[in-house]
Amino acid sequence: MGYWPAMPLPPPGPDSHVLVTGASSGIGAAIARVLATRGHPVLLVARRADALADLAGELRGLSGLAAEVHVADLGTDGGLAAVRDIVRRDERVVGLVNAAGFGRTGRVADLVADDAQREALDDLVRLNVLALHDLTLAAVAAFTRRVQRGGHAAAILNVSSITAFQPLPGAASYAASKAFVQSFSEAVHAELSGTGITLTTLSPGLTRTGFADAAGTDAFDRAPDLVVGEAADVAEAGVAAMAAGHRSVTPGLVNQLSALGGRLAPRSLLLPTLNGAMELLGD
Ligand SMILES: NC(=O)c1ccc[n+]([C@@H]2O[C@H](COP(=O)([O-])OP(=O)(O)OC[C@H]3O[C@@H](n4cnc5c(N)ncnc54)[C@H](OP(=O)(O)O)[C@@H]3O)[C@@H](O)[C@H]2O)c1
Repeated sequence: MGYWPAMPLPPPGPDSHVLVTGASSGIGAAIARVLATRGHPVLLVARRADALADLAGELRGLSGLAAEVHVADLGTDGGLAAVRDIVRRDERVVGLVNAAGFGRTGRVADLVADDAQREALDDLVRLNVLALHDLTLAAVAAFTRRVQRGGHAAAILNVSSITAFQPLPGAASYAASKAFVQSFSEAVHAELSGTGITLTTLSPGLTRTGFADAAGTDAFDRAPDLVVGEAADVAEAGVAAMAAGHRSVTPGLVNQLSALGGRLAPRSLLLPTLNGAMELLGD
């Protein structure tokens, strides 16, 4: 394969489709809106057919471009295989956004005492880690084959979180799932250097979406307004970084400082502080 400079997402056009998981609400839906506004037809993936159909209608009106709905539960083998197949075979797809994900708060000892919560932790790892990993591998394979045949460049955007940068008592499994996303995605970004394929990681802080409801927490309501961002701003930052082929982006100064603190602070000081703070916030 010849050398490519860091290549962005290919220019928008009727054949420059981007597949977005988690597109039925929140950050994924906002990313689909930004991509459509830029001129990319989108393939929208999630479980809720009605929400996807509503968004597809909105986007067709907005951009005059195609917006396809693919209903799939990425936590199941069948749902994941169906989406993997699109990524593998659909030659129109020049971009993949892995935004589907959810969180769960509470202490592990409490969560495992409840069968439904225990099961939710398995579902979390299946979606946040395994499905994202699987679709990223499928995209790297498909995009690499295409570039080797002399086809166009391609881009991947994986949604991580600022919880990726340190362990988080009170959200242990969720933060660990995002640490996986961050580490895996940054490593593959480096591996892909010069290939014509880019992988960008988006690491938002608290963002107003359906996330808190899905996680079963009202902690966001008690967080100061200053630290809660809007999905539209997060999406703009993510798509801009993806289009430029950047390694990673953390939108917002407060979140950037939090990520830096999480990376640099000694664990012996950080973990008791976070443990106390999460106890105060409650779940
Ligand atoms: N909001 C925040 O504060 C925040 C901060 C940092 C990172 N993030 C990350 O941002 C991403 C998007 O979350 P969000 O905040 O936008 O929350 P959200 O509004 O709840 O969106 C989550 C999306 O994931 C989809 N999803 C959930 N389970 C799925 C499954 N089994 N199969 C397919 N799709 C599934 C949901 O669609 P269906 O229910 O229709 O399937 C929905 O479209 C997640 O990866 C999250 O971890 C969020």
